[in-house]
Amino acid sequence: VRAFESVGSTNDVLRQMAGDGAPAGTVVVADEQTAGRGRMGRQWQAPPGSSLLFSVLFRPDLPAGDVYRLVMACGLATAEAAEAAAGRHVDVKWPNDLQIGGKKLAGILPESAIVGERPLWVSAGVGLNVNQAFAAGDPLHETATSLRRASGRTLDRAVLLAQVLARLNVWTQQIGREVLLDAWRGRCLTLGQRVRVETPGGAVEGVAEDITPQGALWLRDEAGQRHRIAGEASLRLP
Ligand code: BTN
Repeated sequence: VRAFESVGSTNDVLRQMAGDGAPAGTVVVADEQTAGRGRMGRQWQAPPGSSLLFSVLFRPDLPAGDVYRLVMACGLATAEAAEAAAGRHVDVKWPNDLQIGGKKLAGILPESAIVGERPLWVSAGVGLNVNQAFAAGDPLHETATSLRRASGRTLDRAVLLAQVLARLNVWTQQIGREVLLDAWRGRCLTLGQRVRVETPGGAVEGVAEDITPQGALWLRDEAGQRHRIAGEASLRLP
């Protein structure tokens, strides 16, 4: 684990280290990001020292199409550690958000270098809201939560990181197994819901029926037609 006071983005630091040959299991964690990135080109912002911002490096022996399983492993590991710390159930929202009570607790940004059909490396950047207040008046009050807000307790981020990594060690050993997919599906509140997904080809609305082992979402629209939506789409409740 390499810890920094301030970086642009932990994903960017880890990408550089991956290119320089860093081994699988390398973790970059920072107190502050000055250019934190979210999915779909968004920014990821957190006050310095308030949340857990880290990226984990994998060098998986997997086909490129299966790297989403690492996102599932990170999601489950973070959810379990967060749940134990806050004493509140943590849901997964497809494709890679964690929520408590319908509010966003954490997000995961996967990035990879693919050569031919194999990933040379994959990084998963996790942003977990730990000690933010998100009090009334905060622009994120309605949509975001933190472990402190959910539990009423201020938490030690280093202890939390150790717990996430311990659970990640367990889940990465299940990477090719159905148990990983089942656990992820079991936490996924998107399944069974009516949702609207913005895709590069336009919006699709329907009931979320299943998640594929590659992390795509199966939606059934009102005409009964099934749509397979890849993980980079953006999901909204209609
Ligand atoms: C999302 O949009 O929900 C994904 C957010 C991922 C944020 C984390 S914070 C640590 C890592 N470094 C980044 O720049 N982004 C990810």
